[in-house]
Amino acid sequence: MKKSMVIGNWKMYKTVSETVAFIKELAPLVENSNAEVCLAVPFTSITAAVEAAKDTNIVIGAQNMNDASEGAFTGEIAAIMLKEIGAEFVLLGHSERRTLFHETDPYINRKVIKALEDDLTPVLCIGETAAEREENKTEEVLQRQLEECLSGVGEEPASKLVIAYEPVWAIGTGKTATPQMAEEAHAFIRKCLTKQFGKKIAQGLSILYGGSVKPDNMAALMQEKNIDGALVGGASLQVKNFSAIIQCC
Ligand code: 13P
Repeated sequence: MKKSMVIGNWKMYKTVSETVAFIKELAPLVENSNAEVCLAVPFTSITAAVEAAKDTNIVIGAQNMNDASEGAFTGEIAAIMLKEIGAEFVLLGHSERRTLFHETDPYINRKVIKALEDDLTPVLCIGETAAEREENKTEEVLQRQLEECLSGVGEEPASKLVIAYEPVWAIGTGKTATPQMAEEAHAFIRKCLTKQFGKKIAQGLSILYGGSVKPDNMAALMQEKNIDGALVGGASLQVKNFSAIIQCC
């Protein structure tokens, strides 16, 4: 059976010392967890997080990367740089990157391909805005994002992907999708992945839900057939909340 997965996305929160203190406190609480426990920390915290998480079951990753191997791109970070300091996965296409930093599907596609080439697990984030949902365009948007962001990805590399469904209207708003709404979207995503990569690969991929996940709504989300875990923002910043969410798996 596929293991469930909970990823904390810390966004631009926590210094190095806060990172280390968090991991030391979290590790004993999740050592027997049924879920894969992952933290996407700021670039500056990766090295210290990897060191603090050594000999624990906590996996460390990054929140972004550039699509090039190297070059004159001031302020950017390459996949091999992340890999070398022990990051194992990278969030790609988060809605904050799409809206605030103007990332497009073709650009995210190049990053997905680069991450796979350099052996970092891409966690591809997709999701519709409130306006798109109101206009009944959720499926159209999800299908387009999957097709464009995963264009040119072969079947074997595709088996390493993680997909996160994060409806934009649910991120940081306290408005979670109901388990039924999330399940409908996840089932549709699984159907699109089946079309793109075949049934065996699509069944094996983890599809995480993200958007105002809290200890009190996680258990109901996890009851749904196509929800394999969660991508957690705000509630991943406190050990108590994050470990409570992990216990729901
Ligand atoms: P919140 O859990 O704070 O809504 O954020 C979700 C998110 O953006 C995770 O990537």
